[in-house]
Amino acid sequence: MSASPVFVAIIGAGTVGSSFIPQLQNLIKNTTNRAIFPILIARSSKCLVSRDYTGLDLNNWSADLSASTITPPTFPNETLKWLKSAPGEVVLVDNTSSLEIAQSYPAFLSAGIHIVTPNKKGVSDSLELWDNIFNSARQGGNATGGYFYHEASCGAGLPIINTITDLVKTGDKIKKVEGVFSGTMSFLFNTFHPASGTCDEKFSAIVDKAKAAGYTEPDPRDDLNGLDVARKLTILARLSGLKVPNPTSFPIESLVPAELEAGSASDFMAGLPKFDSAIEERKAAAEKENKVLRFVGKLDVDKNQVSVGIEAFERGTAIASLRGSDNVISFFTERYGANPLVVQGAGAGAEVTAMGITADLIRVLERLN
Ligand SMILES: NC(=O)c1ccc[n+]([C@@H]2O[C@H](COP(=O)([O-])OP(=O)(O)OC[C@H]3O[C@@H](n4cnc5c(N)ncnc54)[C@H](OP(=O)(O)O)[C@@H]3O)[C@@H](O)[C@H]2O)c1
Ligand SMILES: *[C@@H]1O[C@H](CO)[C@@H](O)[C@H](O)[C@H]1NC(C)=O
Ligand SMILES: *[C@@H]1O[C@H](CO)[C@@H](O)[C@H](O)[C@H]1NC(C)=O
Ligand SMILES: *[C@@H]1O[C@H](CO)[C@@H](O)[C@H](O)[C@H]1NC(C)=O
Ligand SMILES: *[C@@H]1O[C@H](CO)[C@@H](O)[C@H](O)[C@H]1NC(C)=O
Ligand SMILES: *[C@@H]1O[C@H](CO)[C@@H](O)[C@H](O)[C@H]1NC(C)=O
Repeated sequence: MSASPVFVAIIGAGTVGSSFIPQLQNLIKNTTNRAIFPILIARSSKCLVSRDYTGLDLNNWSADLSASTITPPTFPNETLKWLKSAPGEVVLVDNTSSLEIAQSYPAFLSAGIHIVTPNKKGVSDSLELWDNIFNSARQGGNATGGYFYHEASCGAGLPIINTITDLVKTGDKIKKVEGVFSGTMSFLFNTFHPASGTCDEKFSAIVDKAKAAGYTEPDPRDDLNGLDVARKLTILARLSGLKVPNPTSFPIESLVPAELEAGSASDFMAGLPKFDSAIEERKAAAEKENKVLRFVGKLDVDKNQVSVGIEAFERGTAIASLRGSDNVISFFTERYGANPLVVQGAGAGAEVTAMGITADLIRVLERLN
């Protein structure tokens, strides 16, 4: 034990947490050159906290958290003050999807607190917030700022953020990025329009089944409106050098018909079959060209264009050949030429998302060594 201790505070504790915490326990066991103390696991209304920084016992954390009656320190004020007083380096793990929490990243980073997060909001909201985050972070040049890593904000554990960052840092030029960025959309379209074989099911029936199996958000409109994909594209566009002002500042094709935008999730599900014929027609038109429909996000740096929506892809291409709920992202760059660098695999799931977070935490620890 030579180096000074590192304190880890986790905000947001649900399914990914259940995977992240065992990975953290492993990391604590295997990090022999310094002590790592988990000091906070917070949900919105309760928490486990080690006020004196001696560290939490994680062995029974889930039951302990459920049984806890302790109100979390207020955010950001009390949390920031307490973390700043820790006797060593601090890493904040933001495992929520809260914009409010992300809006405080600059304050935490400026105070020298490191942040690792799967939360897309901070890096995909206003360009002003993005600039504030990176200007406050040590990678952005603030010598005393905290490190900021967000690999799991796009494609869960898939190496996407690090890949594009390395390409840019080594002087390559991103020309285009295109891919399937939503596990739910991937599943829906791979089923509706398979690259081999046929599907006789209506699109609305597939959405129904996916919802019943828990593959969609509780309200499937949150997947079908394209916003989740638009946020991921916003992140990649900014890392490629485009100044995207916000995640709705470019064309987004929503699969939620305008007349079904209001009302409950069950109203939406009941109304969806009326729109099956429109998407069937697009499928038939694509089929005539031996193509399949996919819901994709694309950006083109030279043309300064970003877009999200349905497109037809030739059979045999990486996007057309997707299976299950996998993501695939193709990076077209100056160095890679006409054959893109392709990253493919599961883009959602607790274990793989937690891996993205743990790997970011390891990156911070290594940079502190
Ligand atoms: N699941 C995946 O495959 C996947 C993949 C990539 C990225 N992600 C990202 O992982 C993150 C977590 O997703 P989620 O859907 O579980 O998000 P969420 O529902 O907003 O948050 C989950 C946890 O955060 C807590 N929380 C929310 N706001 C909080 C606040 N202000 N203070 C303290 N705790 C707060 C919740 O507390 P309560 O328990 O008290 O409600 C819950 O424990 C998101 O950013 C998501 O986009 C997930
Ligand atoms: C992490 O994120 C998942 C969803 O992606 C969420 O369900 C879980 O509660 C979070 N918890 C922790 C501690 O990472
Ligand atoms: C932890 O260390 C043990 C022993 O060196 C090794 O077998 C194991 O794979 C390591 N686990 C992780 C998660 O690094
Ligand atoms: C785990 O925590 C719960 C709630 O605090 C407690 O009732 C239970 O006895 C604990 N189990 C163990 C094995 O410590
Ligand atoms: C948090 O701190 C800021 C700056 O010191 C202050 O302006 C604000 O009122 C505080 N908020 C709360 C809820 O105490
Ligand atoms: C850089 O860090 C210092 C000290 O941590 C902080 O006071 C300052 O506001 C930071 N600068 C920016 C641009 O965030």
